[in-house]
Amino acid sequence: MSPDDFIPQPYSFSIDNGSFTWSSPSNIALVKYWGKKDNQIPENPSISFTLDHCKTITTLSFSKKTSTDDFSFEVLLDGEQKDDFKPKIKTFFKRIENYLSFLKDYHFTIETSNTFPHSSGIASSASGMSALALCLMSIEKELSEGMSTDYFTKKASFLARLGSGSACRSIEGDLIVWGAHEQIQGSSDLYGVKYPLKVHANFKNFQDTILLVDKGEKQVSSTVGHNLMHGHPFAKNRFNQAHANLSKLTKIFELGDLDAFVNLVESEALTLHAMMMTSMPYFILMKPNTLEIINKIWAYRIANGSKVCFTLDAGANVHVLYPENEQENVLKFIKNELVAYCQNGQYICDQIGFGANQIQE
Ligand code: PMV
Repeated sequence: MSPDDFIPQPYSFSIDNGSFTWSSPSNIALVKYWGKKDNQIPENPSISFTLDHCKTITTLSFSKKTSTDDFSFEVLLDGEQKDDFKPKIKTFFKRIENYLSFLKDYHFTIETSNTFPHSSGIASSASGMSALALCLMSIEKELSEGMSTDYFTKKASFLARLGSGSACRSIEGDLIVWGAHEQIQGSSDLYGVKYPLKVHANFKNFQDTILLVDKGEKQVSSTVGHNLMHGHPFAKNRFNQAHANLSKLTKIFELGDLDAFVNLVESEALTLHAMMMTSMPYFILMKPNTLEIINKIWAYRIANGSKVCFTLDAGANVHVLYPENEQENVLKFIKNELVAYCQNGQYICDQIGFGANQIQE
């Protein structure tokens, strides 16, 4: 498909007002997206586990307005006006205007809340932008005749991508690929697709416990971070490596090779941070406690023959990934040895999830 395929035909119906609610999860990348071209096109393919508990719930209410000159909307987080969210949403609306011809016809009220603490350092852009994209698609579906589920899902992901790249991986689950990859049929730079190949039972119900190491404001926004890959001395090799790692992962998933999984996932996380450490300007986003946790995980793995591993976002928090059959032991280990390194002892237990859900009024 091409971007033009998402430009709507004149709508069949008209509605004056209404509201839709969607709950959409966060996701955690195994092969990381870091670096983009114009229009939120990724420099390399990525793959993520969709999460289950970390979600954004958004209600979008809309009512017809008389003037269609500009966008009109308000945003509320947990019932309170959030004017500082507005510029990001306005940018999003501008980017998607061509693809949703009704955007200037309505006044929108966007009411949003997260199941995880707002200032936890967990990126809410993936769950937030995907929830909003889904609400907008629900409006378009009402205005259109006979929209297929496949088109709805693809376009929701396409729009979410224009809000925040990784958000396009939050529409469905449980494993989502975004970015064209030669071995993954149907994969596209424009939207996320369900991983279509065989996945061994070892990866069913994989667990992700998120250790909140640093809940402060992000030191580098992801927009700045992605831009640092332009002219980065290692960019080309990194993008090639991501393609190669995704190829390796297809074998790992097929065979259920947990040892190879651990190595690949941890290497991806450290490579992401290595890219930040070697850009100009350079950043260290890990904190001393991030490294303490990593070392403890390595020691635990050796001592117990465990398949637990870590991955990182563009921040200091640690995602601890492990198979379901290790849940009891790993949680004990986390409580006994890792919680001490978390800010206020905070952590969130999550696991692989299956994507967004519409909440009926
Ligand atoms: O979606 P963005 O633009 O916030 O970028 C997210 C990038 C990482 O979280 C660091 C990696 C990824 O693939 O999710």
